[in-house]
Amino acid sequence: MGPVLGIETSCDETSAAVVDGAGIRGLAIASQDAHAAFGGVVPELAARAHIRALDAMVSHALSRAGLESDALEGVGVTAGPGLVGALLVGVNWAKAFAFGRGLPLLGVHHMEGHLFATSLEDRDAVPPFVSLLVSGGHTLLLEARAWGDYRLLGQTRDDAAGEAFDKVARRLGLGYPGGPEIERAAASGTPGARPLPRPMLSGSDGPGDAAWFDMSFSGLKTAVALAAAELEAGDGLHDAVADLAAEFQEAVVDVLAEKTARAVDLTGVRRVVLGGGVARNSRLRERLAERLGAGCRLFAPSPRLATDNAAMIAAVARHRLAGGERSGWDLNADPTLPFPGLDSSAAPALATAEGGSG
Ligand code: KG4
Ligand code: ZN
Repeated sequence: MGPVLGIETSCDETSAAVVDGAGIRGLAIASQDAHAAFGGVVPELAARAHIRALDAMVSHALSRAGLESDALEGVGVTAGPGLVGALLVGVNWAKAFAFGRGLPLLGVHHMEGHLFATSLEDRDAVPPFVSLLVSGGHTLLLEARAWGDYRLLGQTRDDAAGEAFDKVARRLGLGYPGGPEIERAAASGTPGARPLPRPMLSGSDGPGDAAWFDMSFSGLKTAVALAAAELEAGDGLHDAVADLAAEFQEAVVDVLAEKTARAVDLTGVRRVVLGGGVARNSRLRERLAERLGAGCRLFAPSPRLATDNAAMIAAVARHRLAGGERSGWDLNADPTLPFPGLDSSAAPALATAEGGSG
């Protein structure tokens, strides 16, 4: 299959990309900075900004690829999960574009995009592997047996890892998005100086228990808020921000690394692929490499492919379109789109898990 155009508008990045058998031919990403002043994504602003930016992103992607639109052989677009108004901009744009040119169309699940991202840069980052997907909206631990054939092992029961970074950053008076701000502040702090809990690391018996693989970050976030309030009532928060950021980051990273190592032990698959915005965190990559050891290969996306981008969406679409899949012209945005091919019954541990995809 030839070049495929990908479109991503699920949150606050407007992105278009052209991907073919050789990898990324052209990628354009516009990050919306209007949200920073509000400390989080404002859905209506996001949708409007997508409308303004999308045409230009597609033109950039095509010109970087050195291609005219008539060279395209398919179109993929994020159909969910995400903000419904934001998703609708991309879905409607892609439908009109594909229909007008007689191209096959595929609605893509955003998190399957994150799963494919690293394979665009490293040909070995293909199934079978264990994957830790850590974004602003989701935290998933799964086994990819083949593309399209996934087994859910664990997930967060409340906040996603990225969401916890964003909320803690806000509480500590740092900017948005919170992940990079926490990482920067943590660099001059000492983990352990102000101890925080490692939620769901102990108190579970083993792989037969959902808690063995599941995660929870809401209580950790509250622990930071309590520590911050205590400091504000005493000596002041300002001097403690770096230490709190360092300890919070260390706690999240400890939990993610341990749960991932457990998934490797359970499956015996000694290959781990990271995905999602939190995969940008260098302490996470360092700690994972340490915990997994030399006998396990760790694949991580480069920064631009860790956070939201359309190349990963084009990669999924190209794979599924080549296999004969098509979306109809009635394709709609679905904020709660289920992960395709994700078997959540296979893991005995998950029988008792209490929903909450984050
Ligand atoms: O995958 P992504 O771009 O968007 C979603 O699908 O949600 O992930 C965005 C998330 C945000 O929560 C952001 O704070 C987090 O990724 N993030 C980081 C870092 N860079 C971005 N978290 C920790 N450390 C980072 N360096
Ligand atoms: Zn994402």
